[in-house]
Amino acid sequence: MTTPDFDEIIDRRGTHSSKWDGMETYYGLSPDEGLPMWVADMDFRPPACVTRAVKDYADHGVFGYFGDDSAYREAVGWWMRERHGWQIDTGAVFSTHGLVNGTGLCLQAFTEQGDGVILFTPVYHAFARVIRAAGRRVVECPLALNEGRYEMDFDAYDAQMTGEERLLILCSPHNPGGRVWSAQELKALAAFAQRHDLIVVSDEIHADLLMPGQTHLPMAVACPEIADRLVMMTATTKTFNIAGAHTGNVILHDPALRRRFETVMSAFGISPNAFGMHMATAAYSPEGAAWVDALCAYLDGNRQLFDAGIEKIPGLKSMRLQGTYLAWVDFSGTGMETTEVQRRILKDAKIAVNYGESFGLGGESYQRFNLATPRARVEEAVERMQKAFADLQ
Ligand SMILES: Cc1ncc(COP(=O)(O)O)c(C=O)c1O
Repeated sequence: MTTPDFDEIIDRRGTHSSKWDGMETYYGLSPDEGLPMWVADMDFRPPACVTRAVKDYADHGVFGYFGDDSAYREAVGWWMRERHGWQIDTGAVFSTHGLVNGTGLCLQAFTEQGDGVILFTPVYHAFARVIRAAGRRVVECPLALNEGRYEMDFDAYDAQMTGEERLLILCSPHNPGGRVWSAQELKALAAFAQRHDLIVVSDEIHADLLMPGQTHLPMAVACPEIADRLVMMTATTKTFNIAGAHTGNVILHDPALRRRFETVMSAFGISPNAFGMHMATAAYSPEGAAWVDALCAYLDGNRQLFDAGIEKIPGLKSMRLQGTYLAWVDFSGTGMETTEVQRRILKDAKIAVNYGESFGLGGESYQRFNLATPRARVEEAVERMQKAFADLQ
């Protein structure tokens, strides 16, 4: 593998990039002067093996329906075993059009209209959107802050349950806040799900994006005791920056859950996206693995630079990420109204971030910054932020 050059500035303007070309629409920021640190994709090319796979497919030049997914299933099995110590039954893998799609399909398969669906907030905003759009109820279980990191508080959640909750969605590692959950925490969550008879959907899309010294533990490995109520969701898209391929996995080892899910897949006519399958199969390889190792080291450098620069601004606190590339910054120490914080970030620093309140209860004083961009841009963002909040220094 040639060493990836994550410092290379790649111009994404005018490429139908949601993150770059959507800035004007959503933030009124021109892509010529704005810094997009919102949408969770990276400003890097994927490893060469992925690009080669797309080129080979394009060179062949016939783009019919995709069939024979055995190589894909093998690749998923290899990756989970090699990288996460998880032995999967490759027959249990359903390929969906990404994990938001996977979440929506799970809601159809495992819940009814009006059922409660638990989220540990603040959490990835699309969960609440799809739950509400499906006519289910969002049950917000706020995470507790303990020494600057998020933890689950099951005593509080036990007291909150009404018996009308059917399913919980775990984000592991957690977006935002970057928690990599421990075995003990996952066990406690499994026990909670058993106490309240809940299906557990574990969204592990960020599983490969780990800071040094961190190990991700798949829910299926940590808690085999809940295999009969566990839905695992994984993807190559966040790890390899191929989110446009809209390909994800819902992995179901329990035959009864599998049958229910299969029916819904069939009802919605879901079948694999050929480009996504070619890219994902190529990504889950030794070359892909070496690239991810280099990526994680680079992201850690960005994180350190960002945290150090941001915390020079009095009142700002950036959560110590264990995983993901999504910095979660608390502005409550500034004493400013959130509208003023957001105005400064947008109008003075000209940075597009995700506003904390969109992540649910507990997110109100935070803003999320995507650090998966060449380091020069992270430096630029820090400088702009220091200038925008210069009166505090
Ligand atoms: C936790 C989580 N799940 C799912 C997604 C999106 O998944 P997909 O693009 O496969 O729909 C994201 C994107 O940021 C995410 O953070």
